[in-house]
Amino acid sequence: MQSSLPKHVAIIMDGNGRWAQQRGHSRVFGHAQGAKVAKSIIESCATRGINNLTLFAFSTENWHRPATEVNFLMKLLKRQLAYERQNLVDNNIQFHSIGQVNRLPSSVQKEVNDTIIATRNCTGMKLTFALSFGGRQEITEAAKRFAQDVLEGKVCIEDFREEDFYSYLESSSFPDPDIIIRTSGESRLSNFLLWSSAYSEIFIHEKMWPEFTDEDLDDILLQYMKRNRRFGKTQDQILSLSQQSF
Ligand code: IPE
Ligand code: IPE
Ligand code: MG
Repeated sequence: MQSSLPKHVAIIMDGNGRWAQQRGHSRVFGHAQGAKVAKSIIESCATRGINNLTLFAFSTENWHRPATEVNFLMKLLKRQLAYERQNLVDNNIQFHSIGQVNRLPSSVQKEVNDTIIATRNCTGMKLTFALSFGGRQEITEAAKRFAQDVLEGKVCIEDFREEDFYSYLESSSFPDPDIIIRTSGESRLSNFLLWSSAYSEIFIHEKMWPEFTDEDLDDILLQYMKRNRRFGKTQDQILSLSQQSF
């Protein structure tokens, strides 16, 4: 049985629009509410001693939404980063981003960079926002960098291993997620961390993101600690390994 806290929690924060529409509001009201929940869950993860938290905030496919919604999300992101920056520093949280940050409006890019710079000496939880992120895009970019290195004679294909390719991925900057939580009851990854989710424990939560609470997080952390992670081995092998480590 898995008994320790996860080192990396990743969350697909889904259901903002439906949550708002079910209450007679516009979808963007749900995004504003979702941002408040994100703040609370970030602080809860830091308090609970989680080393890495990655939040899927905007996918490469989300650019295809109506312009009014995309614009609102960009403004919300900009405002939230500016507003929360000092709070992240006070909580010793180091901020990062993955994804095509250069596709974001320049005013948002500035807030992202300012937040990275402001929190770079923080030594506590590493918080990563996946912004204009797509798992396929990430792998494609890695393949392009790899191909460039082959062309320049920097890598030898014969000796090239899985771990070597991994180092070309943006998500190699953090450990693979132990847990991926998706709210809103949808059972899919929607192009999130395709490579590093290979052995993640997946938790589909029925609540919409704006209703997700600290108690829901604690419940998932407890469930995680009771799960058996075998990584392809047998249960007996895992048991004897854990006995050896005592
Ligand atoms: C998640 O909520 C936030 C983003 C994708 C930006 P949605 O906006 O997808 O809400 P639903 O899933 O349509 O309810
Ligand atoms: C995934 O949610 C992306 C984010 C939460 C940022 P979507 O709402 O975009 O996913 P689909 O379209 O339901 O698969
Ligand atoms: Mg959705």
